[in-house]
Amino acid sequence: MSTRSSDRYGPSSPDRVRREPFGTTADGRSVERFTLTSSGGVTISVLSFGGVIQRILVPDRDGTRADVTLGYDTLPEYEKDKSYLGALVGRYANRIRGGRFSLDGREYTLAQNAGGNSLHGGARGFNKVVWSVEPFEEGSDVGLVLQHVSPDGDEGYPGTLRVRVTYRLTTDGALVIDFFATTDAATPVNLTQHAYFNLARTGSGDILGHLLELGASRFTPVDASLIPTGELRRVQGTPFDFSTAETVGARIGADDEQLRLAGGYDHNFVIDRQGATDLALAARLTDPVSARGVDIHTTEPGIQFYTGNFLDGTVKGKGGVPHRYRSGLALETQHFPNSPNEPSFPSTILRPGEEHRSRTVYHFVVRD
Ligand code: BGC
Repeated sequence: MSTRSSDRYGPSSPDRVRREPFGTTADGRSVERFTLTSSGGVTISVLSFGGVIQRILVPDRDGTRADVTLGYDTLPEYEKDKSYLGALVGRYANRIRGGRFSLDGREYTLAQNAGGNSLHGGARGFNKVVWSVEPFEEGSDVGLVLQHVSPDGDEGYPGTLRVRVTYRLTTDGALVIDFFATTDAATPVNLTQHAYFNLARTGSGDILGHLLELGASRFTPVDASLIPTGELRRVQGTPFDFSTAETVGARIGADDEQLRLAGGYDHNFVIDRQGATDLALAARLTDPVSARGVDIHTTEPGIQFYTGNFLDGTVKGKGGVPHRYRSGLALETQHFPNSPNEPSFPSTILRPGEEHRSRTVYHFVVRD
């Protein structure tokens, strides 16, 4: 299989892409770390393990850079991680009810790794594989092409799935993430990036004071096991209304059944969009103190907003600082949870001869 990096992009220069060893997994796989630097002041570090975004350095209103993503300093910590910190998630991001679905008259069983459901690809999802990674430069952009082949039957999913993800950093502070996949048998595919943000600085406290705006007038309410009921509910008049900027914490403790079921926000929002495939605004997040912001645009129909309700301070992250309750939040662009069992949701089934394509852009900005 040709790597697009060599066909389309020029070779990378060492000052803009640093490539270094990052250790060896417990089962002997070598892992590298790639650090991309853009002239606009944003630096990201990416691991070949899990395609993890380990570090995102972003300037504040005074130009002071801080790392705004949760993660770890070492590979063994990423191997043990159960929170999907910074990782690429697949084959199916989010939950599939009972770890079961049927497709073209056949029943498939997946690992039930989250309260009887299958979560984020199963026991060993794309977050635990070592991706093949090649850096590239294209004009003033710098980036990485990550590739992985998921074999037929992997975690119970049918078909050989060839996945390619590109991370491209532009000079104006945008990280453009493109997902591609092809298969030789019909299979569900739902890929996402699972970065947790704390725009004040990772390890600095909770995210309840961040301002959030979501481009969504509806969300998908869930049952007690966090599987959507199938309803698309209007957010208006509920604590789920982020159609204008509101702090994350303003209503998180409200007396609301959906907040109680998930222990906070852990819900998929339905992105308002003109066309099915345009890049639409999904989320705008701001730390009002530092003025660091991130705008998220996507071609996906949904975004999971998760306030780190399962982080409990028992696991230490970078610099030995525990990942405390709600110390980071994830905004995961994706198709809706449990789509293979919910015919009314946009389909996640990829068939032979088709190409899965999806784009998400994180644009890091200083908010005036
Ligand atoms: C899910 C949470 C889950 C977390 C795992 C999120 O994407 O929405 O329910 O606990 O991933 O870290």
